[in-house]
Amino acid sequence: MKVLVTGGAGYIGSHACDALLRAGHDVVVLDNLSRGHRAAIDILSRRGGSRFSFVRGDMGDSAALELAFAPGIDAVMHFAAFANVGESSADPVLYYQNNVGAMAPLLAAIRKYKVARLVYSSSCSVYGQPPENLIPLQESAPLAPLSPYGRTKLIGEQMLQDIVRALEAGGTRTALTCLRYFNVAGCEPQGELGEDHDPELHLLPVVLRAAMSDRPTMKLFGTDYPTPDGTCVRDYVHVCDIADAHVRALDRIPLGEIAHLNLGLGRGTSNREIIEAAQSVTGRTIAIESAPRRPGDPARLFADPGEAHRRLGWTPRVTQLEQIVETAWKWFSTHPRGYRA
Ligand SMILES: NC(=O)c1ccc[n+]([C@@H]2O[C@H](COP(=O)([O-])OP(=O)(O)OC[C@H]3O[C@@H](n4cnc5c(N)ncnc54)[C@H](O)[C@@H]3O)[C@@H](O)[C@H]2O)c1
Repeated sequence: MKVLVTGGAGYIGSHACDALLRAGHDVVVLDNLSRGHRAAIDILSRRGGSRFSFVRGDMGDSAALELAFAPGIDAVMHFAAFANVGESSADPVLYYQNNVGAMAPLLAAIRKYKVARLVYSSSCSVYGQPPENLIPLQESAPLAPLSPYGRTKLIGEQMLQDIVRALEAGGTRTALTCLRYFNVAGCEPQGELGEDHDPELHLLPVVLRAAMSDRPTMKLFGTDYPTPDGTCVRDYVHVCDIADAHVRALDRIPLGEIAHLNLGLGRGTSNREIIEAAQSVTGRTIAIESAPRRPGDPARLFADPGEAHRRLGWTPRVTQLEQIVETAWKWFSTHPRGYRA
């Protein structure tokens, strides 16, 4: 298939492009490089050769969309978005403009070109702070995002559902898969494609960057949660397994169906366990400064990935925390300044 990947210069999108190329698909990336990296595009271009092409442009720009759809697109994987929860609370309009407003022209192009296979990067943030008795979380859990970011992800799901209905009404049978990722972590084992956000807010990169500093120290938010070691528990899933789920979604979800699937290991890992694994992999001791809980951080959040397993035949291959940390360390230790190194 020829797959248009929005946001393919970013962390997860670039890994998905690599998985698509490996599976024999052709890839067109549309990315405005607002938060992505030209270096990731260069790596993918080298790997994909004539099966890979890049359009630098905004998903909200009709001219860029015309270029991106020109080769004849069979499927769209939509990763492009801003994804910083704190920033979304500080500047909600930016998030509604980019994640929702700029998505409308993309959807118009999907409809115009009758693209029948759609895969969307959604997030566990659409569930907000679910009650303890619903964990591990199934897809039927109430949708109650707490942040503007989470709300834009949920609105994105709903916009896509509406476009699918419009396509179906016009006679185009369409498959839509909304993949709700939990905590994505790690990097490809080759160590070329990696994670480079600015600022970096995800726990594992923050810990690894702390480990690389002269005096390793970091803040641990919330040490009095009702969990075995008092710190938050989350579901860490390797980025290559996330990429694999996207490739599977292309042909496992039949035309005419809409699927919402949680992607996680189905197992919780505490913040303290992440720090311990990072210390063991890097061989560095990190001084921990206990800080108060952050508002809106639930004590425990992990997925029931059973539905993704049933619908996609998806089983994460990276199941050990150390493996996730090792692949991330390979990238961070060789790219101390991210892709600029
Ligand atoms: N990282 C996670 O743990 C996580 C968890 C759940 C969901 N997600 C979702 O996965 C997707 C990818 O996340 P990521 O961590 O790879 O983010 P990222 O910032 O690394 O990548 C996003 C990419 O989208 C591009 N982009 C943003 N707005 C654009 C626009 N208007 N037009 C064209 N390109 C645009 C950026 O330049 C960047 O390359 C996002 O949709 C995010 O909401 C991420």
